[in-house]
Amino acid sequence: MKRKMLWGSATASYQCEGAWDLDEKVESMWDRYLHENGLENGDVASDHYHHYEEDIRMMAEGGQNAYRFSLSWPRIIRDLEGNVNEKGLAFYDTLIDTCHRYHIEPFVTIYHWDLPQYLEDIGGWQNIETAYHFEKYCETVFRHFNGKVRFWSTFNEPKWFIFSGYMSGNYPPCHRNIPEVIRGSYNVMFASALGVRKFREMKTEGEIGLVASYQTIYGLDESTETLNAMRHADNYCNNWQVDTACLGEFPSDMVDKLKEQGYDLSFAKEEELQIIRENTVDFIGINYYSPMYIKPYTDGETLVKANNQGKNYKGDLRSVVKGWFEVANDDMKDIIPHNPWGMFVYPQGLYDALTRVSSYIKQPIYVTENGYGAYEEISNDIDDQYRIDYIREHIRYLLKAKEDGVDVNGYFVWSPFDLYSWKNGCEKRYGLVAVDFDNDCRRIPKHSYYWYKSNIENDFIDLRKEEKQMRNIVLVCNGGMSTSILANRIKELGGDGVEVNAYGEQEYSQHLKDADVVLIGPQIRYLIDDIRKRVGENVPVASIEPRVYGAMNAQKVLEMVDELLKDSK
Ligand code: NOJ
Repeated sequence: MKRKMLWGSATASYQCEGAWDLDEKVESMWDRYLHENGLENGDVASDHYHHYEEDIRMMAEGGQNAYRFSLSWPRIIRDLEGNVNEKGLAFYDTLIDTCHRYHIEPFVTIYHWDLPQYLEDIGGWQNIETAYHFEKYCETVFRHFNGKVRFWSTFNEPKWFIFSGYMSGNYPPCHRNIPEVIRGSYNVMFASALGVRKFREMKTEGEIGLVASYQTIYGLDESTETLNAMRHADNYCNNWQVDTACLGEFPSDMVDKLKEQGYDLSFAKEEELQIIRENTVDFIGINYYSPMYIKPYTDGETLVKANNQGKNYKGDLRSVVKGWFEVANDDMKDIIPHNPWGMFVYPQGLYDALTRVSSYIKQPIYVTENGYGAYEEISNDIDDQYRIDYIREHIRYLLKAKEDGVDVNGYFVWSPFDLYSWKNGCEKRYGLVAVDFDNDCRRIPKHSYYWYKSNIENDFIDLRKEEKQMRNIVLVCNGGMSTSILANRIKELGGDGVEVNAYGEQEYSQHLKDADVVLIGPQIRYLIDDIRKRVGENVPVASIEPRVYGAMNAQKVLEMVDELLKDSK
């Protein structure tokens, strides 16, 4: 099925709505935890509850055609008996109707971390009953909003709320207990499958997916130990969400590893696993911000650290998962650019994530979050060039992945406007539009807002053009005057045109490794078969006619490359 490309932005109920006790909303676990501990909270946040119309209008005026937001469970379901708060449903009716009025596709997350406190009181995600309560909540919202919403996701980032709640202990309920991490992860994936089952039983219109956090995994070297550690890290960060949702199975080597380490997994009942197997998702959402660098485990107990202090954080970020891997981000922090919270900026990680995921799942993919958190002064002219650079480079890689055949159908910037960033508070700003939290939450578009708008409107044509020119065009030739002129022209195109001496065999094989297209100089045409063999059948190879060789300008090179690539498709 041909899908319309969605270009939008994303929020979460607790982080933007405010109105924490308005219209009979009950307390969430975050309300309780932040109030009790006197921490900065989302009582008002961006006051989206009252500014939604302005926000959605700005999205539409900003060229966006989709809005990803979450429903607040404690706004909709009052208690353990499942009594419904009609006022909560009414708020989302208005929100969704407003989206439609502005031709914005609502992309709805059912759970984005704000568990009702009455469920935390019965054990929260440790209690399998919470999964059944989730199923009932799903039933309510599917019945009520059926026909108005085409894209649903059961959960946002199971990994982060479970691991932060039960491993790092920086989110409520602030435990540090590995068996609880395992149990919580299982219960959430089971709850998701129950939600998917309910969706289908009720013949709800549209599609249902899950949104996974994704950290692309890289190793410091290619040793077997590092590769093993990388696989463990991939299971830990990504696969238990993606594989379980898309393939219906927890990664079997991860399960074996847990058993080998003596964890008791007997709580997992065959009937539940059957439900997980039978209720895979229609699409997968990938939230990508940063990669993770890995080295083999050496020693020490499991310890996972998080920087919730931004530029004031003084410690290291050495994290260890006992027997699995160590996080090597500290080893890379002078090499890879990062924001003040230590999050690496590595756009190619998005390409690698998309191609990797699409190599083994059949579901379509949406990039459901990507964005840049920064400290920013509020003014009427916020020049957030770093955010533009971040978003542009990630979209470049998304478009490349799409061109290379990945079924990716949407991209959502986190976030349309500044909001409350959990333990990082409101000072970590992600918005395309600033929120002046001290002045009635006044909205002020930043430069990135206008950049996103004009690029959506022209279908990212400039990026696509640049991308075309960035192809790695390799010129194999035997030196000489006209050769170096041509090699320079290829370089001018922004490509990686290299002049390779055809007689230095070693050297030219090396260059061919990353070639997108190979051009061969006239005097060495006899090498064409050998070169074809080396690059494989997907990389077009052509020799240049002697009479045009020296006279080829940049335009001619590009035309030739385009022709070759077209024919090779
Ligand atoms: C992931 C989460 O879904 C969202 O709640 C969070 O604020 C952003 N990433 C930014 O860290």
